Amino acid sequence: MRMPPPPWRERTEGGHHNSMTDRGRILVVDDERHQRDILKMILEGEGYETAVAGNARQALEEARDGLFDVILTDLKMPDKNGIALLTELVKAQPGVCVVLMTAHGSIDSAVDAMRKGAFDYMTKPLEKDELLLVVRRALERSRLVRENRMLHEQLRDRFRIENIVGAHGSMQDVFRIVHKVAASNSTVLIYGESGTGKELVARALHEQSERRDRPFFAVNVAALPESILEAELFGHERGSFTGAEARKIGLFEQASGSTLFLDEVGDLKRDLQVKLLRTLQEREIMRVGGTERIRVDVRIIAATNSNLEQAVREGRFREDLYYRLNVIPIVLPPLRERRTDIPLLVEHFLKKYGGGRARTVGDKALKALVAYDWPGNVRELESALERSLLLAEGDEILPQDLPAPVRSGLAIARGPLALDIPDSGLDLEALEKSLVLKALEKTEGNVSRAARLLGLSRRTLQYRLEKIQGAPNGASIVRKGAETT
Ligand SMILES: Nc1ncnc2c1ncn2[C@@H]1O[C@H](COP(=O)(O)OP(=O)(O)OP(=O)(O)O)[C@@H](O)[C@H]1O
Ligand SMILES: [Mg+2]
Repeated sequence: MRMPPPPWRERTEGGHHNSMTDRGRILVVDDERHQRDILKMILEGEGYETAVAGNARQALEEARDGLFDVILTDLKMPDKNGIALLTELVKAQPGVCVVLMTAHGSIDSAVDAMRKGAFDYMTKPLEKDELLLVVRRALERSRLVRENRMLHEQLRDRFRIENIVGAHGSMQDVFRIVHKVAASNSTVLIYGESGTGKELVARALHEQSERRDRPFFAVNVAALPESILEAELFGHERGSFTGAEARKIGLFEQASGSTLFLDEVGDLKRDLQVKLLRTLQEREIMRVGGTERIRVDVRIIAATNSNLEQAVREGRFREDLYYRLNVIPIVLPPLRERRTDIPLLVEHFLKKYGGGRARTVGDKALKALVAYDWPGNVRELESALERSLLLAEGDEILPQDLPAPVRSGLAIARGPLALDIPDSGLDLEALEKSLVLKALEKTEGNVSRAARLLGLSRRTLQYRLEKIQGAPNGASIVRKGAETT
């Protein structure tokens, strides 16, 4: 039996420090032997592990494995000047601190070097104290950069799933659960608005399970009429109904040994709810028109974009089936609740649809993308970018390339405000007050502009405002409003 891959990439030993080199590793590059020897002696005297190179070629070779924290290099060398070397070193080993050693009178090149990413420069002849000070600072910096990068990598790689972008805590929670339960056979129920990636997560669960060598089966429960769906799921015997000219093997049988994804499971009709429940309980099916009980070994992943609990309360969905499905719930957050992921997703889709070219999104356009409410979630973002990439004249996407609602910052599809009415109901008057106050907050008290934001005349707003100011607890209304919107 093949073991599933480790849930997240094991961190390989990131740091290269060991006890002997804890003080830092330094490479000295100079074509003058004498100079190299002196520097090596001084630095080793301070406990730094020091290597030397007599020219740029040697230096690049030495530095290839990225073992150095700091590289001190002469500016003028026979085979390559220090700045060209610097550029290559920084490219090969981002984060390495390069310090240039220049002769008097070459300050211009030193400035150039700083611009190209040198950490510092020193003028020859070197002073021992200055040398050690610069080296200490460079080491400190190199350590910080490395730690920082390690932290970032850890954050990024901790919980990662191929093709699913999400650094936001809510998505990290999702990845964590996926990694934890992928290998089990437990039924998973994925909740999420349209376009939040439910199917993507279902596939990831399959791909990380021992069932991954078999194909992943999916059926959209809402897309098929009941009788067809029934035959689709359970199969039928020949002649079991008009038109059933041959035996049909249903998805439960086909997916035996694999995963079956039941999309929009909330739309399952009553009769099929019963049949599905029985299948889940008994792990057996019967084909339509058949009498034989057939054992099936199917891992069920279901998804819904509706509130199943509410459907249960309203009697539209069987409670016992709900509990059978809801063994491991995974909730995918709407995109507007994890806006910090938008730039990451944008980057992801630029790569996917950029046609191999380096495409970017301009600052203004990115702002609009982050501000938009995305009623269609990631799917909508994906198609918006695909479209914008086609429309953009150059390599940079500008606001005018974005779909109109994104550009104008309106989520038309869901109405001007994405508000759900909580089961407990809401207080319309309080809500109105909070909206008025929020509009004023946004315009810093400018009544005309606030009125425009609310689609009211200035006079109407003025009137409502007077009403509100007469009301007690105006301030607390603002806070409550902030939570509900
Ligand atoms: N986190 C994500 N990272 C990258 N791509 C994503 C992510 N979430 C969704 N997508 C992409 O968005 C599109 C919609 O995803 P998916 O079909 O999984 O959503 P869904 O929740 O099943 O939507 P629906 O309810 O409309 O069926 C797909 O192209 C998918 O690749
Ligand atoms: Mg889907």
